[in-house]
Amino acid sequence: MKIAILGAAGRMGRMLTALAEEKGSGLEVCAKVDIAEGFDKTWDGSGAEGVVDFSFHAAVPENIGKAAAKGIPYVLGTTGLSAGEQAAVDEAARSIPVVQSGNYSLGVNLLLALVEKAARTLGAGYDIEVVEMHHRRKKDAPSGTALMLAKAAAEGAGVDFEANAIYGRRGEPGERPAGEIAIHALRGGSVVGDHTVIFAGETERVELVHRAQDRRAFAAGALKAVQWAAGRKPGAYAMRDVLGF
Ligand SMILES: NC(=O)c1ccc[n+]([C@@H]2O[C@H](COP(=O)([O-])OP(=O)(O)OC[C@H]3O[C@@H](n4cnc5c(N)ncnc54)[C@H](O)[C@@H]3O)[C@@H](O)[C@H]2O)c1
Repeated sequence: MKIAILGAAGRMGRMLTALAEEKGSGLEVCAKVDIAEGFDKTWDGSGAEGVVDFSFHAAVPENIGKAAAKGIPYVLGTTGLSAGEQAAVDEAARSIPVVQSGNYSLGVNLLLALVEKAARTLGAGYDIEVVEMHHRRKKDAPSGTALMLAKAAAEGAGVDFEANAIYGRRGEPGERPAGEIAIHALRGGSVVGDHTVIFAGETERVELVHRAQDRRAFAAGALKAVQWAAGRKPGAYAMRDVLGF
């Protein structure tokens, strides 16, 4: 299967290329697209049977539009999309299969299911806080994974995410309202990606933790997703669809 990698010069792009080029992967990288020196500067939408995009949010609408025009499945790992950029993704998913996830690792996708179950089981007496830490070069905050975890917790707790989410605290926020879901982003050093979901009750506290140790965890999942997406019906898919849980 021929794939185009968008953001090929980046931390994820290099890992994706290395894995895809390993013997026996079943993949051939036909375009390595990046604005960085030495890469294909743009992608005209041709030559690929699948696209894996780990680039920059502002680049997504144009590239997914090209894939949609050519009927090529798209795996989107890029995070930090604005509402308008997300609308372009949703539009493309009407004509091609689009797998979109803020995290392609097996462990985080298992964690999403566990968080939803924990929130449902523990109920309203447990306050939910999500804490993430990433390397100092990460551009968006909070991480796409933290948002997915917070939304899974909201789903399990039966609260409306948009109405109850807050991002950090300062000043005098006052007593914590019931149902609030707070998300905190730490940045520093070379941390690949740590996420903790805390359920704090009156008498006990449950903490669910995931630590990514190597970007290979995300890259392997994204390459699995692009192979899964080939030949699917158009639509918006999540990594949980790929993994089957
Ligand atoms: N979903 C996941 O599992 C997952 C995991 C890790 C990172 N990410 C996300 O993937 C993205 C990339 O992460 P990274 O750590 O590799 O970042 P990075 O900054 O190392 O790489 C991004 C690359 O995209 C390139 N780029 C910027 N604009 C471009 C454009 N218009 N066209 C083509 N390439 C362009 C940059 O030159 C850079 O090489 C981020 O949004 C990050 O949050 C997602």
